[in-house]
Amino acid sequence: MTQNQVFGYADRLHINPGQTINFHVSSEGDEHFSASLVRIVNGCVDGESNTYQEIPILSDFEGEYTGRQKAVYAGSYAEIDLANSFANADAHTVQLHIYPTKLRGGGQQTIVCLEGKDGQTIEIGFEDARLSARLNSLQGQTKLTLTEPLTEERWHLLALSWSTEQGPATFRSWCLENRFHQPTRMKYCEDTQECHALNLGDDVSVYLAATVAEPDRNGQTIVRDCFDGKIDALRIAREFLSKDNVIAAADFAPNQSIQASLSGIFNFSTSTTVSFYNELSHEQKGTFVNLPLLGVRGVRWDGSVHNFDGATDHYSAVYFHSDDLYDCGWSRDFSFEIPDDLKSGYYATKIANGEGETDYIPFFVSPRASAKKRAPIALWLPTMTYLAYSNDRMADNSEKYGFDVAGWNDQIEPDMEGYAKLLAHPEFGSSIYDYHEDGCGRHFSSWLRPIVNMRPKSSLWGMTADTLIISWLEHFGFDYDIITDHMVHEEGAELLNKYATVISGNHPEYVSSEILDAVSTYTNDLGGRFIYMGGNGYYWVTGVDSNYPAAVEVRRGVGGSGAWFSYPGEHYLQSTGQLGGLWRHVGRPPQEIFGVGTRGMGFPGSIGFTRNPEWDDPRAEFLTKGITEECLGDYGIMGNGAAGEEIDAVDYELGTPTHALVIASSQNHPRGMMIAREDLRFVIPDEWVHSQVRADITFFETASGGAVLSLSSMTWCGSLSHNNFNNGISQLTENAVRRFSKPEPFRLPSI
Ligand SMILES: [Fe+2]
Repeated sequence: MTQNQVFGYADRLHINPGQTINFHVSSEGDEHFSASLVRIVNGCVDGESNTYQEIPILSDFEGEYTGRQKAVYAGSYAEIDLANSFANADAHTVQLHIYPTKLRGGGQQTIVCLEGKDGQTIEIGFEDARLSARLNSLQGQTKLTLTEPLTEERWHLLALSWSTEQGPATFRSWCLENRFHQPTRMKYCEDTQECHALNLGDDVSVYLAATVAEPDRNGQTIVRDCFDGKIDALRIAREFLSKDNVIAAADFAPNQSIQASLSGIFNFSTSTTVSFYNELSHEQKGTFVNLPLLGVRGVRWDGSVHNFDGATDHYSAVYFHSDDLYDCGWSRDFSFEIPDDLKSGYYATKIANGEGETDYIPFFVSPRASAKKRAPIALWLPTMTYLAYSNDRMADNSEKYGFDVAGWNDQIEPDMEGYAKLLAHPEFGSSIYDYHEDGCGRHFSSWLRPIVNMRPKSSLWGMTADTLIISWLEHFGFDYDIITDHMVHEEGAELLNKYATVISGNHPEYVSSEILDAVSTYTNDLGGRFIYMGGNGYYWVTGVDSNYPAAVEVRRGVGGSGAWFSYPGEHYLQSTGQLGGLWRHVGRPPQEIFGVGTRGMGFPGSIGFTRNPEWDDPRAEFLTKGITEECLGDYGIMGNGAAGEEIDAVDYELGTPTHALVIASSQNHPRGMMIAREDLRFVIPDEWVHSQVRADITFFETASGGAVLSLSSMTWCGSLSHNNFNNGISQLTENAVRRFSKPEPFRLPSI
């Protein structure tokens, strides 16, 4: 892959007519590129499902563009504008706690950088675990170095003191070996050097965790030498603090006599997710860039508290990563105002350079909120889950996961061409299934960057798998609108209630509490009809921060199946304040709303469903009519069966309505289909355990005349098109959609 590539992203994932979407493109080698609009009917190019279909749509942005190659400057950092903090004093001290998390691999990392007048700067950082402070005055540079190397994953206290006139400067460090109650300060070392006069002036810009340089040729701020690790308790003093006073100033709330010498106290627990204040002068504000992690254990965390809310002294740290990325910040290349007559659907802007390299930038068009005319059916695409998996590099993480992901991928047939592009661009970041370079799990994923696997023609997973539902709807001529997780999150049950029937995507795994509330209200209170056409749904507590609307946040807690666990004390989401982990473990199991919840996962091939006695229940007649298959769905393009990959089952203890009918279940999955670990109480081989691994086709009515049908498998949609859509899976789905779209209320059985 030596050719120039072209990549892009849009500033929106869903949009209504009348609104404008902006496109940001990087064309390698500054090559010209063309742009055009397509609507995606079937995004799948795998194997026998090679029925990819995109429909060209004439748009006003179609044409040729001058390309620019644009860079991605990943890495979170903080920026503080300090006015008057350095005025009227003969000497100063800047000090902070750091917790480095990636010393291996070498490289320069900047901890704090002060930029004053006339190019005078102070930089504290390290290379190969060796700390240094560089004081750049008008007369030249003085470098102080510490002999004691940093220790990875230990807190250190650092302090640099200097004089504004010529005189000594002292750089100190302590390693805090014991984090409980009374930290043991060990490995103290210092360096003192005679330094030129250094007067930063009245206005000083402070950068934490990165060196921020002049903008590049595209006007993007260059960020380099990013720090991996936590910073806590930044203090700025108007004095040359003694050793004892440095320690006293590092307290969460320094005593009065120390406070008198301080001009800046920054405890990051008192910050919002975008900014923080000098506690001594609320006019001085700092800003976070690229979404660092908050709600993390600070230097004073002692294991006695687990929620950052109300425990500011324990959670006064911020965690920066050199590969954090919220927004690439690329300049806009072109825009598109959605015309009133553009049908709701899955669209993509196709960009192509002269070498035949292409990219697709997806977005979803939905009717405007005030639209009178709507389709009777909404296909709800799980955009939060799309983001969770965005740019996943799972195949690279087999060792960390402890299993061979490539083996699992045999069923999914990964898009290796897309994966090669991803490997060539580490700066595009990865998914919530991956790790930062220091080994910390990734908590955020944003759409303001190229996402190589959130594209038509990518692996048969997520967005691409969901196009199998789109193509099924179109085959039968059903009139449908597209809606998304983010729309339901914002508009709630009111949006769902505009539709007679709502159909989920095949893998709605990541959802917010607003989404659970919306479905529950729609089906239980408003008579709505809901078809859950997937598996492993409504599983992880997911948050969206209104300050970062393009990102989702996940804290995995210590359960579920999802690549990493949260660190102790870090289970609460900074975006919402909610306890993270599985919805099941925080008291909102999906079984309550959908009748089913995750029961198993595995990729050894899929199977069909076996009828249960409830198949013949008159309440299910509308679903089963016309179906002759004894084994339902033992075919399909996702592992040759309608039950597979990730599957759900009823659990009455967890809230499945007692009147739910389980009309068919998948039985005897191959051994590679494993029980969900939250269902496993002992780690022992057991036939009973294996017998519980099944998908349950589950139907129930609600008291408001609504109904829920859960098909409980990710591979259901892979069977829809079998035999030119003439099959039992398609028939059952069609039966459900036709009845669900009729106004006659469902009635609760007399039980
Ligand atoms: Fe999943």
